Amino acid sequence: MREEVDISKDIDETRQGEATVIEGNTPTTGKKLYVESYGCAMNFADSEVVASIMTKEGYSTTGNVDEADVVLINTCSIRENAEERVRHRLTNFKKRKEREPELVVGILGCMAERLKKQLLEEEKLVDLVAGPDAYRDLPGLVGEVESGQKAVNVLLSRDETYADIAPIRLDKNGVSSFVSITRGCDNMCSFCVVPFTRGRERSRDPHTIVQECQDLFDQGYREVTLLGQNVDSYRWNMTSKGEIKDETKPTTNFAQLMEMVAQVSPDLRIRFSTSHPKDMTDEVLEVIAKYDNISNYIHLPVQSGHSDTLQRMNRGYTREWYMNRIDAIKRIVPDCAISTDIITGFCGETDEEHEATLSLMKEVKFDFAYMYQYSERPKTLAERRFEDDVPKEVKSKRLIEIIDLQQEHSLEHHKARIGKIDRVLVEGVSKRSDEEMAGRNDQNVKVIFPKGNFKKCDYVMVKITDCTAATLRGEVVEVLPPAKN
Ligand code: SAH
Ligand code: SF4
Ligand code: F3S
Repeated sequence: MREEVDISKDIDETRQGEATVIEGNTPTTGKKLYVESYGCAMNFADSEVVASIMTKEGYSTTGNVDEADVVLINTCSIRENAEERVRHRLTNFKKRKEREPELVVGILGCMAERLKKQLLEEEKLVDLVAGPDAYRDLPGLVGEVESGQKAVNVLLSRDETYADIAPIRLDKNGVSSFVSITRGCDNMCSFCVVPFTRGRERSRDPHTIVQECQDLFDQGYREVTLLGQNVDSYRWNMTSKGEIKDETKPTTNFAQLMEMVAQVSPDLRIRFSTSHPKDMTDEVLEVIAKYDNISNYIHLPVQSGHSDTLQRMNRGYTREWYMNRIDAIKRIVPDCAISTDIITGFCGETDEEHEATLSLMKEVKFDFAYMYQYSERPKTLAERRFEDDVPKEVKSKRLIEIIDLQQEHSLEHHKARIGKIDRVLVEGVSKRSDEEMAGRNDQNVKVIFPKGNFKKCDYVMVKITDCTAATLRGEVVEVLPPAKN
């Protein structure tokens, strides 16, 4: 099954609830911190903020959990199985704590926010609970635990963006990094727990975003992914109704922000996620078309192909509206890859509604999709209003149909690239073979090619010669010189 596969440390792939361990060894003489992250890219970005906050307090980070004095697990609540995996992990730590009572185990992120004191007081699985807006308080919370108390801070904030904190890049890759631009979400999709765990939407000061991208570029990074639950609703110095807050200062929307970031260097590739169909404007598409260094790749989650399902999901658009946005992408950004998210078996989903999702897929021909079975989440609108009435077997049968169709479409797209020459950002040696290198093209597809003398962070032109439904293969025909800024 396609659910929860394909994990490399990448925004699109980490969102599925797999764990990645943050490693690094900032030299300090203090205690050692180990952070493990689950869930979406936002959590991985947040773990780097956490590492920064704790490093300033004298902690050094470690990738070896056995030598850690403090273990922080950054968690996801999006589907039930994401939470189950974390519980299992916490149970292992509980056993270790019986042998090492001084070990501090804390839970961060969405499960911390959703369950609040439950894991600490009722289930006694952790010593510390910190929600997504409470990370500045972590040194204090760890101190409380060390002095024998239990520590909790799950307050959500209306303005915390951690804008001034320079995240510690502990990912060894050094090519691509996440940069968070908004936090929280003001949409109330009826299936979704995120508004409850992440709080109200807020945007980060654009100058701190551009500065972070510039710093990354100066350190050698060649790709940034701008992150938010709904990047299209990024707004600075504007209210949600579009009114200007301070007349003496400029306003910035997402299209303008992308333009600012694209101007850092033509050699910095810009990606972004997630776009929301109800908010994605032609202005954004025009900026994508204008800049060669903005990736021709849009992740535009549809969730369902039937307007009635979309209405129950409270997504704020119809099938027709979604198709209008797809037409706009195809018109304004030719050769743009489009990926999506689909949920099967949402409350009340009929055969006809499921067929509509298949027919929408055939109309759009997505390059890639993340596909999930509906998992009811406590307190969401769907849990309160609707019955989770599609039987498990029907959900999974529909999921398999959707996955099979998507595989066909991905393969078709990849076959169509054979013979073309793609610009690829080299990410490193291929995971499968030391004799090959891997990178991604402008459409965000993984491309494998013989090793040669290429280095990480080079841009190379690769002639595509072969493919599978997951990757492209080819030969390098040119190494591009660095751009003159
Ligand atoms: N902000 C993004 C989505 C974040 S969650 C957006 O609006 O597109 C990532 C994906 O998880 C969602 O797009 C959805 O497809 C899936 N998802 C969210 N809640 C779910 C649930 N309760 N059951 C199954 N899948 C869910
Ligand atoms: Fe969840 Fe909808 Fe917000 Fe995405 S836009 S995070 S699916 S509520
Ligand atoms: Fe999961 Fe929270 Fe992200 S629920 S998907 S970690 S915002």
